[in-house]
Order: sequence, then structure tokens, then C-alpha cells
Amino acid sequence: MYTPLIQLEQLTALPQSLGDVVLAASNMLRRPLLCLTAYLATSSSFLGWNSPVAGVEAQYLLGLGIGDITGPVVETNMMGYASLAQTDTGLHMRQRSRAWIVADAANPSRRVVFINADIAMGDTGIRRSIVSQLSSQFPGLYNNDNIALVSTHQHSGVGGYLENLLPQLTALGYVKQTADAIVAGTVLAVQRAHNNLAPGKLSLGNTTILNANINRSPSAYLANPAAERAKYQFDQDKELSLLRFDDSVGNARGFLSFFPVHGTSLYENNTLVSGDNKGMAAYLYEALVEPSALPGATSFVAGFTQSNVGDTSPNTEGAFCESPGQPWDGLPCEFEHSTCGNKTQDCHGRGPGFRTSDFASNTIIAQRQVDGARALMEGADKGRMSAVSGPVGWVHVYLNMSFHSFQLPNGTTAQTCPPALGFSFAGGTTDGPGAFDFVQGDNSSTPQNPFWEIVKGAVTPFPNKQQVDCQAPKPILLNTGYAHTPYEWSPTTVDIQMLRVGNLVMLIIPGEMTTMAGRRIRDAVRTKLISEGIIGQDAYVVIAGPANTYGHYITTPEEYAVQRYEGASTLFGPHTLDAYIEKYTSLVSFLSPSASGSPPSDPPSADQTKKAISLQTGVILDNAPIGQKFGQVIADVVTNAPYHVGDTVVAQFVGANPRNNLRLEGTFLTVDQQVNGQWSTVRSDSHPSTKFEWLRTNTVLGYSTVNISWTIESGTPSGTYRLGYFGDSKPLIGVIKPFTGFSSSFTIA
Ligand SMILES: *[C@@H]1O[C@H](CO)[C@@H](O)[C@H](O)[C@H]1NC(C)=O
Ligand SMILES: *[C@@H]1O[C@H](CO)[C@@H](O)[C@H](O)[C@H]1NC(C)=O
Ligand SMILES: *[C@@H]1O[C@H](CO)[C@@H](O)[C@H](O)[C@H]1NC(C)=O
Ligand SMILES: *[C@@H]1O[C@H](CO)[C@@H](O)[C@H](O)[C@H]1NC(C)=O
Ligand SMILES: *[C@@H]1O[C@H](CO)[C@@H](O)[C@H](O)[C@H]1NC(C)=O
Ligand SMILES: *[C@@H]1O[C@H](CO)[C@@H](O)[C@H](O)[C@H]1NC(C)=O
Ligand SMILES: *[C@@H]1O[C@H](CO)[C@@H](O)[C@H](O)[C@H]1NC(C)=O
Repeated sequence: MYTPLIQLEQLTALPQSLGDVVLAASNMLRRPLLCLTAYLATSSSFLGWNSPVAGVEAQYLLGLGIGDITGPVVETNMMGYASLAQTDTGLHMRQRSRAWIVADAANPSRRVVFINADIAMGDTGIRRSIVSQLSSQFPGLYNNDNIALVSTHQHSGVGGYLENLLPQLTALGYVKQTADAIVAGTVLAVQRAHNNLAPGKLSLGNTTILNANINRSPSAYLANPAAERAKYQFDQDKELSLLRFDDSVGNARGFLSFFPVHGTSLYENNTLVSGDNKGMAAYLYEALVEPSALPGATSFVAGFTQSNVGDTSPNTEGAFCESPGQPWDGLPCEFEHSTCGNKTQDCHGRGPGFRTSDFASNTIIAQRQVDGARALMEGADKGRMSAVSGPVGWVHVYLNMSFHSFQLPNGTTAQTCPPALGFSFAGGTTDGPGAFDFVQGDNSSTPQNPFWEIVKGAVTPFPNKQQVDCQAPKPILLNTGYAHTPYEWSPTTVDIQMLRVGNLVMLIIPGEMTTMAGRRIRDAVRTKLISEGIIGQDAYVVIAGPANTYGHYITTPEEYAVQRYEGASTLFGPHTLDAYIEKYTSLVSFLSPSASGSPPSDPPSADQTKKAISLQTGVILDNAPIGQKFGQVIADVVTNAPYHVGDTVVAQFVGANPRNNLRLEGTFLTVDQQVNGQWSTVRSDSHPSTKFEWLRTNTVLGYSTVNISWTIESGTPSGTYRLGYFGDSKPLIGVIKPFTGFSSSFTIA
């Protein structure tokens, strides 16, 4: 068995004598780590789409698909908060990848693939595998340049899939089962979208959602020039932009929306795998359109995509001190550093449902995004939608951000730096506070605590003067750009990518841009698109990210100087944003159909997964206690009285480790209703009303139990029901075998 101490020691090959230091370092890393993908033309049914289709004004070929990407729901660290303690114990909702393909009907090889994966962040390794599978299955159609892997930036999914070392620390290294599930489900989503490509129309518009995000670092936002801030009513973008997908006669097939709000509605003490507010919003909308379909089985595909998310929070009530017995208990946290009694630990952001639960907050923030999307799709704001027409285009390059030299708009040469994280990275955020005496807003060149100055050198190499000067005023805590052992701690090369659909340009960003950083790059790209005559005054630019590669955060230089969590997590130094603005704007000409050749690119980063260390142990065995069998009911439902709406029905079963079979595109549980003497499945493990919880009861003998619960929703028809459990057990020697178990039948009055 590996303790975290041994784990970190092995990862960094530290001498044993540094034990205490490493333990401290591992604790230090515990929390703040991260808030850290010419077949068609030859297919007979599509022949003829090379020329305009008579009688159909639809200019595009559109395809939409969903795939299940849920990794191991137990015994695996979750991704987002990077908390060692956040190890999953079951399933609330499955994670999905959703894919949208847009092809130019007049020239179908010109196409783009937008993937919205319900994961914490894009990753180079995952993307490499997705692109490799799709480009070999669909030669000449899907490739490294026209596939965008965007994440919802949720913090309640399965971890261990990123290929760099830093985000693997809390997951006990690389978890191949998680990565494989994400790749398989995402490729399936794109295959499904490809298989239903059909002529259709696109339209675009936006609406305002006032109550679904707030700025969690307002003191950093205030560092931006007053004249610039005066151009905007809010310190957060409140617009939800939406691209509607219709068939050729105008029936909606789905949409892709962009709205910035962190996927931190569910707190880090939640251990049930879920989709946070974006995953929930997608479920709610799809269920609204196709109420009788099981989650993930709808043909309508709702896209709630993340945008300039950096400094946003879904905890809209603000951040307050939870410090029982202290005079500041219940008061707002200190403004500049988000502390309570000078420490970050007690400062927690509150969502709109905080008096009930974080699950309540999650549903409310999801519903507000759903309401915004509905207003544009079928409500009051439908008139704000305009038809989209024009070419399909894309551009993709790699950019090595280590000492990348470029010209600022005023002609001065600036450069970016090798990756490093500041002290305030360890301060965490009000969505997931930090540890020890780290606080946000530490931009002092003299360290607050000399102990950390010593400790930090034990984790990553001490920064040299060049790096210190380059990253200033960031006081460097983790010098990850110089940490290459046993493999790269942080990515140095990022993906720069844009997708174009008519007048819409999607900036696919390898990190989390703050509100103002996002506004600056959108404006700069839009201005360049218009001045170069690529798109007219209707040019519309949106941000999607964190995508492709996880380059952490991107603040404005002014916000960087304040060094709150977002500034401390701006990996490549104060000129990170300006470097991206220069690069993205320089590439806009490649979005024109008349563009020829391809832009110069740095080499891709080397595959780290082949060197990956994985300390997570596999499943050894499952056993049922003597006299019992797998799937047998231990604690049954209530059979002598009826249940009512609002009640929770629970049954406990003799279980087996769900890691034995992820049951992708399937379910670990069912709620079945008796209809004409036959059982019919009405709920799966992905309905938010159901929960699947697994508990290891004897590690040596391999015993475990499973709890299946269902909170009866209003509108549920009265009748006779049962709960079903679908498991797979692993003997010490031999093959994994499936089994089922059912509760007694119960009634709903
Ligand atoms: C919303 O749409 C209007 C009208 O097209 C446009 O002027 C505005 O810039 C859009 N807002 C954003 C944030 O893109
Ligand atoms: C999770 O953390 C939040 C915020 O501190 C707290 O309000 C809530 O009670 C915790 N939930 C559980 C189940 O401990
Ligand atoms: C917080 O720090 C300030 C400045 O150092 C000090 O005056 C104050 O007493 C401290 N508060 C607590 C509760 O420690
Ligand atoms: C990135 O650039 C740095 C500095 O020029 C160089 O040392 C490094 O080898 C480059 N990395 C890659 C992957 O090309
Ligand atoms: C150009 O802009 C940078 C960043 O704002 C500034 O540091 C530099 O002094 C400017 N150079 C000139 C010549 O104005
Ligand atoms: C540090 O941040 C404060 C605001 O919190 C700001 O006034 C100060 O200028 C910053 N220091 C540096 C060196 O940028
Ligand atoms: C599982 O169900 C049993 C029996 O109803 C109950 O005692 C136990 O608290 C439940 N466990 C969890 C984690 O809900």
C-alpha cells in the first residue's frame, strides 16, 4: 500500500531524509493543484452534397452526437479541486462528451468538429488519442487541425487522465482507465455525429443571464484600467451566446452555447461523480426536449460550453467565513486576500441553494443557463437570433511558451516564461480554499514564510534569476517548467486554435481566461477579422476553454501584478495574454477560404503517457460473504406502505467493485416500473434523482456493499416499481462475471 508520503517520494525520487519536508509539500500540493479528437464524399447516401442541393437552402451539413466518458466511479481521485481526500465513492450523473460537426455543404471536406467534454480541462494526451483514432477512421475528414477538444471545466468528474505530472499528484499518478473512457466515449460521440450528418441551418444570438456568475477575484479585476472597466456594466460577462442547429426545414436538433461560470457548484467534499452545473444544464435541456429518453440517449444535443471562466464563480451569494466560535464567523471574507482571521481555510463561496445543499445550488445555476438558452431557442429572445452564412474554416498551431519572444502592439519586444506557479496558487480560491498560511494576493518579492522558501526547493528546482525576473512579480512556489523528472510537470507547448462557421469565430483557448483577458482577446481578434476583410461588421467572436492542453490560467498583466489565485496560476508569466493575443490575431487570415498553405508551428510536445507512473492498484478480488450472493438484497425497500413524491427509496445490495466494468453507455442501476405485467426501465444511474454508492466493507476478503437510492420526482405516476443493481465481480483467479439484483417491488401512491 502506498501512503501519499511514499507516493510523492517516488514521483520525485527524493532522498528518504527529506521525509518530513515531502509530507509538508504533499499537503501543500493537496488542495490547490488545479482549480488544475473522404469518407462522406464517397458514402452513397451523401453523394450529391458536393453540389448545392436543389430546393434546400440549407448551407451546411450538421451532425450531433453524445457519448459516455465516465471513468472509474470509486477508489479514484476526482479532478478539479486536486484534493487527495476527494476520492470517488459512487455516481450521481454520468460524464458525457458531446460533439457538433459543421461541414460546408458546397465543399463537404471543409468541416470542423467541436467537442464539449464533461471533464475538468482539455489535455494533450487525451486529444492526441482522439485525433489519432478519428483521423485514421475518417481519412481526409477529421484531423489535428479541425478537431477542438473543449472541456466544461467541471470539478466533480473522475481524475487521473492528464498526462503531465502536476495534475496527477493527487490521483496517485496516471489512471489509464479514466483516460481510455474519455477517449472511447468522445470518439463515439463524433462517430454518432458523423453518422447523422444532414443538411441544415445555423443561427446565432445572445441573451443576458444576470444571476448565474460572480467575480471571485474582484480585487484583481479592479487593477484593470478604469477607462477599460467603464466600457462594461459588470465585472463578469453576463451574455450567453448560442449557435442553434436546425434541420433543413427548421426543426431544432440542438445548440452550442457559451457562458462563463466555474464548474464548482458541487463542493470538494462531494464524492459522487457528477457533471456539475454544465453537465446538469445539458441533461435538463435534453430531458425537456425528449422527456421519455434515458439520459445520454437523446437525439437533441444541448451544449453548455465553458468560456472566459478564469475569475468566475457559481457561488453567487458571495464568500463567507465558516469559523464557528470566532468573531468573524458568518461575515464576508476579507476582500483582497479572501481570508478569515488571516487564513484562507474557512472562506467558502456560497451558491444560491447553500442553505439546502450544494446539489441544490448546482441545479439552480444549471437551470439559469437552461432558461437563458430556452429564451433564445423558443422564448422571448428568439428574435435576437440571426441566420449564419458563409465559409467553414479552421486554423491550428502549436506554440512553445518557454521564452517565446513577440512584439507588443507598441512595438516593444516581450517574452513569455517557462511554466511556474506562484505562492498564491496554494492559497486556492473561495470555491476551494487553500491550505496552511498561503493566501491569495501575495505579490511580495520577500517571502512571508521562510519555511516555504526551503520546502519549495524540495518539490521543484529552485528558480534561477532569469526565471525569477521573467515571472516577476510572481513569487515562485512551484517552478514546474524546470521539473522534468520523471516526466514533464507542466505543458510548455500549447495548442492555438480557431474554428470558423460563417460569421462566428470560436477561439479555442488552452487555459482559463479571466473576464477582462477574454474581452481583450475577443476584441483584438474581431478587429483584425474586420480590418483584414475576412468577416464583415457582423463578425462574432466567442471563447471556449479550457481546451486541448491545460495551460492553467490567463489573466491580464494588471491582474497578474495582484497575484490572486488566477494570477499566481498564469503559468507563462505576465505577458501570457499578450502573447496569445498576438498569436491568435496573426492567424486570422487562415480562416479565409482563399488562404493557402499552413502557418508555421512549433513542434508538438512529446507524449508523456508512455513514461506515466501509475500507483493506483487494480481490483484484487470481490467476494460475497458466506451464505450471500452478489446482488442479494441486504436492506430492502419498504413494502408494507406506499411511497410518495419527495420520498427517497433506498435498497442495499451485496456489491462488487464497479471498476471491474465501467458499463459505458449502460447503467449500474435501474428503476423499473411494472406496465401490463412487464418491467420497464424508467430511470438510470444518470438521472439526477438516483444515486449509486459503493462501500468496501472488507479489503482482505473483498466484501462490499452498494446502496441504490431514488428520490421520487413530482409527476411520477403511481404504480408498482423496483430497484435494479447491475454489477460485475472479479474472482481472485478467472474472468469478471456480470450479475444482477433486484429489490422487492414497492408502490408509489
Ligand atoms: C450580443 O449580440 C449583439 C447583437 O448581435 C452584439 O452586438 C453583442 O456584441 C453580442 N454580445 C457579445 C458578448 O458577443
Ligand atoms: C461540504 O462543504 C460545505 C462548505 O463548507 C458545507 O457547507 C457542507 O455542509 C459540507 N457537506 C458535507 C456533506 O459535509
Ligand atoms: C491578521 O493580521 C493582521 C496584520 O498582521 C493583524 O493585525 C491581525 O491581528 C491578524 N488577525 C488575526 C485574527 O490573527
Ligand atoms: C521550447 O523552447 C525552449 C526555449 O527556447 C527550448 O529549450 C525547448 O526545448 C522547447 N521545447 C520544445 C518541446 O520544443
Ligand atoms: C509598450 O507596452 C509595454 C506594456 O504595456 C510597456 O511596458 C512598454 O514600456 C511600452 N513601450 C513603449 C516604447 O511605450
Ligand atoms: C501588489 O498588489 C497590490 C494590490 O493588491 C498592488 O497595489 C501592488 O502594486 C502590487 N505589487 C506589485 C509589485 O505589482
Ligand atoms: C446504505 O443503506 C443502509 C441501509 O438502508 C444505510 O444504513 C446506510 O447508511 C446507507 N449508506 C449510505 C452511504 O447511504
